Amino acid sequence: MSTTAKKFDEKARGEFAQLGTTRVHPGELLRHPVYTRFLHWSVAIFFILSLLSGFAIYSPWLFRWITPLFGGGPRTRALHPWFGLLFDVFFLFQFINWFAPMAWVESDRRWMKRMRQYVTNENPLEAEDVGSFNAGQKLYFWAIAVSWVLFLITGLLMWFDNLTGRWVVAISYVIHDLAALLMLAGFIIHVYEGTAHQPGTFRSMMDGTVTERWALTHHPAWFRAVTGRDSREAYEREKRQEER
Ligand code: HEM
Repeated sequence: MSTTAKKFDEKARGEFAQLGTTRVHPGELLRHPVYTRFLHWSVAIFFILSLLSGFAIYSPWLFRWITPLFGGGPRTRALHPWFGLLFDVFFLFQFINWFAPMAWVESDRRWMKRMRQYVTNENPLEAEDVGSFNAGQKLYFWAIAVSWVLFLITGLLMWFDNLTGRWVVAISYVIHDLAALLMLAGFIIHVYEGTAHQPGTFRSMMDGTVTERWALTHHPAWFRAVTGRDSREAYEREKRQEER
């Protein structure tokens, strides 16, 4: 990533830190600063608005009940591209914000091989090499980035449909809808992972913090990097304390 983008991101983080507060109590770690939380929830809001208005346009027969939320059918149609555009704008900043920690590394290939164990919660402790985000989270991020490009290009082609041929617009409809289905599937899995499947994760996007226990269980390499302590040792110590 360019140094200009990096500098912009650092400046934004600094300025947002003054707008909101993140209290980190003993036994907790800072997971997501104010700027990251602001971007995440802005992306989420405009994604959900795009999804709802998009469904209402895609199948009025099934989703007619949604249109009153946006002031009727024609207004839903008019608002949808704007919701999409705002989703794109906020995700662009989030992309810059998360570009570095989302880089694919060798240990991600190993995580992919263990994915079944992760899904079935077979082992309560993640492998030592799992850093700030696991490979599943990175995949979701990169799937959004690809869909982001597809949504933008096909969305603009459909919005300004007199600029190109009819077949270009027709293909755009198909790609746009397929990208939306991919995103919907990812979104459902994401919400499940961020709440019910991994308790203690949701608060990281609310107050910005996680417990040390959560960090050493789910992201041992990140725990080591931010605390300088051995995650396995810390885990064993916590377990012994619990057994007492
Ligand atoms: C509305 C329900 C949502 C909930 C409850 C939710 C929850 C969360 C939580 C708790 C995290 C932090 C995970 C961690 O620190 O390990 C997170 C991260 C993230 N969220 Fe969401 N989120 C929601 C919607 C969305 C939407 C709509 C998008 C984008 C379309 C999105 C994109 C991301 C990405 C890319 C990450 C980082 C990677 C990951 O953790 O999977 N989220 N979310």
